[in-house]
Amino acid sequence: MIDRIRKSYEIGELTEATAGDDPVALLQRWLEDALNAEIIEPNAMCVATVDEHGNPDARFVLLRGFDERGLVFYTNSQSAKGKQLAHRSYATLVFWWGALERQVRVRGRVEIVSDAEADAYFATRPRGHQLAAWVSPQSEPIPDRVWLEARAAAVEREYEGRDVPRPPYWTGYRVIPDSFEFWQGRRNRLHDRLLYTRAANGWKRVRLAP
Ligand SMILES: Cc1cc2nc3c(=O)[nH]c(=O)nc-3n(C[C@H](O)[C@H](O)[C@H](O)COP(=O)(O)O)c2cc1C
Repeated sequence: MIDRIRKSYEIGELTEATAGDDPVALLQRWLEDALNAEIIEPNAMCVATVDEHGNPDARFVLLRGFDERGLVFYTNSQSAKGKQLAHRSYATLVFWWGALERQVRVRGRVEIVSDAEADAYFATRPRGHQLAAWVSPQSEPIPDRVWLEARAAAVEREYEGRDVPRPPYWTGYRVIPDSFEFWQGRRNRLHDRLLYTRAANGWKRVRLAP
């Protein structure tokens, strides 16, 4: 079956004229389109990192901040991805919005956000999510589900009646883009691809073969 599924991409096109010169503005427009299209988790993106052996790894996270400075996601700095980013501070992000037949790839250096920025975002999280940051030794083996539930109950008791502080190991990562690639599916696999790379002042744009 999977060798027979064959979707023709027909709903859009990406021209130089509509794309413009600014990839940040274009990604903001595409994110808005994804929000308006009521796609599940429109801000989900796959973040690829490399491990200490130089081997790639990847998983999805949620985009929580985006402006001229870069794209921010939050996680546990002691997780596999956190360790990988401490070792090699470079990542590639990929968005896929199937309903819009669009993909975006962003590559760049990664830095940890300021404590003030991480605190401000942590404060907006639902209490259960804040507690989970203390409960879960992300990416470590744990005995079983019962262990996790018991730890959740213990942490809940510990913080009963007071605000949940941000764990020191839970923080945000900002990917500072070197490049953006926008992909719009077209008929007969003749897709549109526009690549933006940083230039002396602003961005250089080229069209790539599909
Ligand atoms: C749609 C989606 C969104 C996710 N968002 C996050 C996130 O924002 N932060 C996070 O730490 N994990 C998130 N996860 C879980 C990660 O994919 C992953 O399981 C976890 O961060 C551990 O990854 P690691 O072992 O590679 O560090 C998300 C998973 C999915 C499927």
